[in-house]
Amino acid sequence: MKRVELNLHEGMYPALIGQHLLTRPESWPAGGPQRKALVLMDAGVDAAWPELQQDIQQGLQAAGWLAECLCLPAGEELKDFARLYPLYGELLQRGLQRRSLLVAVGGGTLGDAVGFLAATYLRGLDWVNVPTTLLAQVDSALGGKTGVNHPAGKNLIGAIYQPQRILCDTTLLQQLPARDWLSGYGEMLKYGLIHDEPLWHWLLQQRDALLRGDASLLEEAVARSLAIKAHFVAQDVRDLTGIRAVLNFGHTFGHAIEQVTGYGYYRHGEAVILGMYLACQVSQRFGVLPGSAGERLSQALAALPLPQLPAQITAEDLLAVMRHDKKNDGEAIHCLLLRGIAEIIPYPCSSTELAPALKSALANWRQSAAATTT
Ligand SMILES: NC(=O)c1ccc[n+]([C@@H]2O[C@H](COP(=O)([O-])OP(=O)(O)OC[C@H]3O[C@@H](n4cnc5c(N)ncnc54)[C@H](O)[C@@H]3O)[C@@H](O)[C@H]2O)c1
Ligand SMILES: [Zn+2]
Repeated sequence: MKRVELNLHEGMYPALIGQHLLTRPESWPAGGPQRKALVLMDAGVDAAWPELQQDIQQGLQAAGWLAECLCLPAGEELKDFARLYPLYGELLQRGLQRRSLLVAVGGGTLGDAVGFLAATYLRGLDWVNVPTTLLAQVDSALGGKTGVNHPAGKNLIGAIYQPQRILCDTTLLQQLPARDWLSGYGEMLKYGLIHDEPLWHWLLQQRDALLRGDASLLEEAVARSLAIKAHFVAQDVRDLTGIRAVLNFGHTFGHAIEQVTGYGYYRHGEAVILGMYLACQVSQRFGVLPGSAGERLSQALAALPLPQLPAQITAEDLLAVMRHDKKNDGEAIHCLLLRGIAEIIPYPCSSTELAPALKSALANWRQSAAATTT
C-alpha cells in the first residue's frame, strides 16, 4: 500500500492506494457508539462488484460505524441540483447527524456530487471518498473541489470541501472499459508534462501495459500522480493564485473540445490528451517550445488511440467556446503553454493571434492521428 498526504493549513489528510483496502478497519476513520455512516454508491459500480456493499459495510462496522448503503444512478445526470436535492431528505430521514459520515463510492461524477452534499448537509459532514475510476483516483478525488453543474456550464455550483481521507482501491479498476483507462492515462501524462519528466518517460514506456490495466503498475502510477496533484493543491487550495491552475494544462482546449463535440463524445481525459497536443503545437508555433521537443511531445500524444475528431469541427468552433470561458479577463483567452517538460507558462492571447496556430494544430492532429484513430 502507498500513502500520499495533502498538507493544508487546516490540517492534513491522506490518500491510501492499494488493493483490497475497503474490508480493512484501519482504512476507515474511527467510528463510535451510535455513529452512522451512509455509503452512497454508484449503481454501475454496484453492478460490476456485487460483493462491494457488503465488504464496505463490514470494514466500516469493524471500525465502529453503524453502516448503511444506498445505490444511485451516477454519471453527469447526478451533478444536477434537482437530482441531488431529494438526497437531503433521504439523509434527514435516515437520521444522519453532524457526527455521522458520508462515504462516496464511484467515479468523478458521484464524488463531486456527494462531496457537495457532505459540504452542505447540516453545514458540513465528514466524508470519505472512494474513487472507482482511474480518472477519479488520479485526479478528481483529491483537492476538495465538489459541486454540481448549471445549465450555463459545468461545475458552476459547488464548494471546496476536503474529505477525511481518500481510499484508492486499485482492485476496483479491473472492470473499467478501455476508454476509461485511456481517460485516466491522459491525466497522468498531464502530471508528467507539468512537473515530472521521469514520470512522463515512465508513462510512455509503460503505455501499453497501463492501457491494458496492468495491476502491478497501478499503485505506483496512481501514487505518483496524486503526489503531484497534492503538491500544487497544497500551495493554492482555493485556486486563486495561479499555482493550482497549472493542473489545468491542456484543459482550455480540452474543455472546448468536450463542448463542441457534445459532452460524452470524448471521455474527459481523452479530450485533455487532444487539448495537450494542441497546447504543445501552439507553444511550438509561438516560439515558446523548441521544435524538436515539440515534435517528440506531439508525436507521443498523437499516437494514443482516441476516437476520431469529427470532420466538421474547426478552429473557429473551439475559439468561439474559449472566448466565452469565464476564466478570461476581457478579450484575452487564458492559455497555458509549455516551454519544455515541467515548464508551464500562462499565455494570455487574443483569438485573432491564436486562430492560425490552432488551425494548423488541428490539421496536424488530423494528419498524424489518422493512422492510430479507432
Ligand atoms: N473535482 C475535481 O477536481 C474533478 C477533476 C476532474 C474531473 N472531475 C469530474 O469528474 C467527472 C468525470 O468522472 P469519471 O470519468 O470518473 O466519470 P463517471 O463518474 O461518470 O464514471 C464513468 C462510468 O464508469 C462507471 N464506473 C465507475 N466506476 C466503475 C468501476 N470500478 N467499474 C465499472 N464501472 C465503473 C460509472 O457507473 C459510470 O457509468 C466529471 O463530472 C468531471 O467534472 C472533477
Ligand atoms: Zn481534467
